[in-house]
Order: sequence, then structure tokens, then C-alpha cells
Amino acid sequence: MAERKILAYPETILRERAAPVTNIDGKLQKLIDDMADTMYHAPGVGLASNQVGELYRVIIFDISAKDEPNDLVVLINPEIIEADGLIVNEEGCLSVIDYAADIKRAERVTVKGMDREGNPITLKKEGLAAIVLQHEIDHLNGILFIDHISKLKRELYKRRLKKLLKQREALSRRL
Ligand code: NI
Repeated sequence: MAERKILAYPETILRERAAPVTNIDGKLQKLIDDMADTMYHAPGVGLASNQVGELYRVIIFDISAKDEPNDLVVLINPEIIEADGLIVNEEGCLSVIDYAADIKRAERVTVKGMDREGNPITLKKEGLAAIVLQHEIDHLNGILFIDHISKLKRELYKRRLKKLLKQREALSRRL
């Protein structure tokens, strides 16, 4: 397993739609293992392939994890087939630097897809797991959680991020 670099907004690959996986081979499983390594090391509770620069429809999550594997779920070609209820929760993202916001999501989702070996699976989740599933599947469609906030809030964040990135750049030049 190897850790990959997590790409951050406004990196353009985060805005692209990932392609369905048609062949589960060693290369794809290596990507999945790398994604797990990257997620646990971050640490984060979920990761989509776009975030490490690959456009395959693959997400992983482990909501019980802090920084080590506990209950890893791998989903290939995930698809939400049912969603209901409403839940509001503060979300952040490994690809959105220094920002969190309350986001409305469906409270319960049913998602179908395949596991790491290509076996079909159907997951029924609620609460945090349902939120993570919706957040990660959004990534595969080029959508970030900041697309669910108001335009004004998003513009304010963009402005602040610009300053932050400039400061970081200046700092790295000095070192
Ligand atoms: Ni995210």
C-alpha cells in the first residue's frame, strides 16, 4: 500500500465525473488499497477516487475509524437507489481546506454497488454513514459539499481560501 497525495479544491479533477469501473483487476485493487492507506493516514472517514487524482467510480469509508482500519467499506460503482428523510450535519472534506458547514442530506439511503472483489452489495444506512455515502458519491460526480451551501457563503470561502493559499505559497518560498 502506498499513500497518495490528496488533491484539494480548486484542483479541476475534483470537478470531473468519474467513469464506471468495467474491469476489477490488480491495478484497481491497488488503487483501493492506496486509497485506504491515504484515508487512514489523513485521517478521514471517507474518500473518493477523484481525491487522489483517479477517475474511477470507487469510494471507501470507515466511520468508526480514527487513524486505523476498523470497519472499512469499499464500494465500486455505487448508486443511490433510495433516499428519504432529512438530516443536517456539519461536514468537512479532506479536499476542502480549512472549512466546514452545515449540509442538508437524506437521513437514510440505500446504495448498491460492488465490493473490492466485484461481488454485488446493497447497503442500507442512516445517520453519519448515510451522510458519508452521499458526500463520497457526490465526489464521483464532481460535486463538493461547498456546492450545497449558499452562493454568498461559497464566495466568502473562495476569497478566504485564495488568501490562505497565497500565504502558504509565500511561506514555502521563504523556507
Ligand atoms: Ni470529501
